[in-house]
Amino acid sequence: MKNKNKSNIKKNKNNFTFSMNNSSLLYIHIPFCDSKCNYCAFNSYTNLNHLKKNYFKAIKKQFLNEIEKFDIEEFETVFIGGGTPSTMPISFYEDLFKLLNPFLKNTKEITIESNPNASFKWLKNIKNLGVNRISFGVQSFNDGKLKFLNRNHSAKIATDTIKNAKKAGFDNINIDIIYATAVDDYELLQNDLKIMDSLPITHISAYSLMIEENTKWQDDYSKKKEDEELEIWFIKEIKKRFGQYEISNFGIPCLHNLGYWEHKKYLGIGAGAVGFIKRKNFRYYTQKNVYKYIKNPISYKYEYLSPNDIKTEKILLGLRSKTGFDKSILNENELKRVEILIYEKKLYKKENKIHSYDFLLADALSEYITE
Ligand SMILES: C[S@@+](CC[C@H](N)C(=O)[O-])C[C@H]1O[C@@H](n2cnc3c(N)ncnc32)[C@H](O)[C@@H]1O
Ligand code: SF4
Repeated sequence: MKNKNKSNIKKNKNNFTFSMNNSSLLYIHIPFCDSKCNYCAFNSYTNLNHLKKNYFKAIKKQFLNEIEKFDIEEFETVFIGGGTPSTMPISFYEDLFKLLNPFLKNTKEITIESNPNASFKWLKNIKNLGVNRISFGVQSFNDGKLKFLNRNHSAKIATDTIKNAKKAGFDNINIDIIYATAVDDYELLQNDLKIMDSLPITHISAYSLMIEENTKWQDDYSKKKEDEELEIWFIKEIKKRFGQYEISNFGIPCLHNLGYWEHKKYLGIGAGAVGFIKRKNFRYYTQKNVYKYIKNPISYKYEYLSPNDIKTEKILLGLRSKTGFDKSILNENELKRVEILIYEKKLYKKENKIHSYDFLLADALSEYITE
């Protein structure tokens, strides 16, 4: 079976279920960045800073609309992502948390993404507002590689900021790392690992570079290094240190992401955000264009998911992570194929759930099961 580690699942946020107390996950998108990285196709902009004030008004309007429409009582987890949430002043979050606080009484995890150049004051203030998990887009601790990626921080700034986050009270710290770039070699990645070992990090998201459309590197595959041996070695080293629970994720699991993979319901607030309402099996999309979003934050596109779509997603997401999927969703033929894969030691059964030994095979395995 072919090893497929090329899925864009990271951008394909998925579906969820209504729980008894009508809780939900919440994602809030901040579409502003201080500089644009060469590889990045996220919905993020460096020239729209003048819209920041009006953006808050728009997300407030969308948030209040959805709370009422879906009768939300509380959020299980919150994820503020981007773009670069740390580019917003603390006053923005003071106003935002005034809105969110009534729904955060039982919230287990509130994550914010940040550039690894946030000030100690910003980190301390954001922690005081109730954020308990921080995710830094470090990418590398090598200055040459950071320049190559067009990041606007240095290795020294990143290590200082991570230490500051710990001092500010964060016990749950993630760093994003990009590997399989043209400048990677054993020495560079070994040095990154050495620096990681010295820092108070609890989680790593490690992404193999994807050459994306609408980026500076579009169609330029010279920026990518195809060296499977190096990639396998690097991932093994991270796994050894942190333990792997998903194809790209290692360490203390992010509850919000686990929620997506377990098909919980979520609200998506902000330009280009995605939400899912299980009750009616639909996914909704807000306006991606920031101007259009600000003009009308409650204009949505809807996508209906058939029971078969949902089943396929459950299998795929379950096999990409430790969550697995429930055996009861399979029909007779699918069950037979799962039995074959169990016999071939590609899958295993634990109670009522089916799990994969190798998350990298998830795409191929789920294709085979649902063929
Ligand atoms: C929204 S960004 C993280 C937060 C913040 N914007 C930052 O970069 O500091 C999410 C992460 O996706 C990863 N990423 C984005 N584009 C990628 C690509 N083309 N290939 C691989 N990883 C990518 C990066 O590791 C990035 O940190
Ligand atoms: S990787 Fe992060 S900082 Fe860089 S452009 Fe994308 S969203 Fe902005």
